[in-house]
Amino acid sequence: MSLLTRRRLLRRAALSATAAGAARSGLAGATAAGTAASTVALSGCDSPPERTTDPEDRGLRFPDGFAWGAATSAYQIEGAAKEDGRGESVWDTFSHTPGRIRNGDTGDVAADHYHRYAQDLDLMRDLGLRSYRFSISWPRIQADGSGRPNQRGLDFYRRLVDGLHERDIAPMATLFHWDLPQALQDAGGWENRDTAERFAEYADAVFRALGDRVPVWLTINEPKTVVQNGYIWGHHAPGIRDEDAAYLVAHHLQLAHGLAVQALRASGLSGRIGPALNLHPCYPADDSAESAAATRLHDGYENRLYLDSIFKGAYPQDVLDDLGPYSRMVSGVRDGDLKIISSPVDLLAVQYYTPIYVTGDGGTVRKWPTSEAEWQQIYPEGMYDILTRVTRDYGRVPITITENGLPCPDVPGPDGTVDDAGRVTFLRDHFAAAHRAVGDGVPLESYHVWSLLDNFEWAEGYEQRWGLVYVDYASQRRVLKRSAHWYRDVIRRNGL
Ligand code: FCB
Repeated sequence: MSLLTRRRLLRRAALSATAAGAARSGLAGATAAGTAASTVALSGCDSPPERTTDPEDRGLRFPDGFAWGAATSAYQIEGAAKEDGRGESVWDTFSHTPGRIRNGDTGDVAADHYHRYAQDLDLMRDLGLRSYRFSISWPRIQADGSGRPNQRGLDFYRRLVDGLHERDIAPMATLFHWDLPQALQDAGGWENRDTAERFAEYADAVFRALGDRVPVWLTINEPKTVVQNGYIWGHHAPGIRDEDAAYLVAHHLQLAHGLAVQALRASGLSGRIGPALNLHPCYPADDSAESAAATRLHDGYENRLYLDSIFKGAYPQDVLDDLGPYSRMVSGVRDGDLKIISSPVDLLAVQYYTPIYVTGDGGTVRKWPTSEAEWQQIYPEGMYDILTRVTRDYGRVPITITENGLPCPDVPGPDGTVDDAGRVTFLRDHFAAAHRAVGDGVPLESYHVWSLLDNFEWAEGYEQRWGLVYVDYASQRRVLKRSAHWYRDVIRRNGL
């Protein structure tokens, strides 16, 4: 198959499948087109836990010290978009652009966590969380993306991490969860190599201010999503559709990751650091040789592009060949870059949501029930496969799961409770898969459910609810869903 053909096929695959895209943009038609009729029209939210879960999974215990947690990100929950010197991010611009976000929603207020963080900390304590993964908003720390850090922004995160320690919850801070300062976007954003240098400076300022209280740092959240959703499909900020630019962006995001790792080492702090990658196990849709070949390349773009560069110090050759020597990415890689990108990390954060099935012509099909997020097929076995594969191919680097979850159309019942039984089933099945991976030698140390709270789900606005905790946006009242009560028991038992 010629390179050109493979690229074309890959593009078609992405069009038909990539799911994150069309579903998140609300372009459901685009997602459905080209996918198999085998799609099962289930949301995963209706299945009662008792029926779908293997009874043998009950009684599973995780290793002592296993840290159960939950995850959020700054733009999705904080609100307070204009307070205490916060600058604008690409997501402010994007969400305020008519037609970009479902229902015209924005993150201006979100779950108002900036003002309600103390109450949210108490919720975390009540759940018994051992770890909380949150992100730091770059434009709160540097309104324009460079220069002297804004003390009021740093103070907010200082209060948050102090509050976590007071409640015996370990902070895990992500440095970048997509909210690039708009000023940097205006200067070229991630297409500009300089943004990686700016990121390292920002990271350094954060390390110096909070490094004594944050034991684990994650660099860039899901670089692949920025590449695909932000630069290929354009339904995430900055809303660009330029594949050639997209892979240059991938390189600069990887470079930024490596520079931040080096900045932490240079600071002399003892914290641990690693990347946060959304990994999709890719399977051939059938037994043909064509499907096997197409799956291999798909895996290159989905997984190895990010994993190989960090853990092996080289981009995968099949992806480089496919991009071609004249691509902006390939010509943008400078001597020494891969050495920076592969600076040794302390752990790998894995975010698992869905498998991908690839056909011989480079398209994709769905084989499992799809959630309310159309890009998500519900397949707990994929969690086992991706964890064991990473350990097999990249060595025994400690792993934390930093995201896994399910959106459900949660509505409080007449008694005020929220019965998200399907989410319980989903989590239980994924916990069981993770447990099997641990049994087979995967050094998994913690698991963070996405998400602690219902929040601003990017292009879907507030339509999709992913939280363990229901948020009534009108009153900002929080209600623990059934899954939250169930999760509290899991944490107490350290298992199912
Ligand atoms: C991940 C994102 C997270 C959230 C979940 C549903 O890709 O990192 O912010 O949107 O998906």
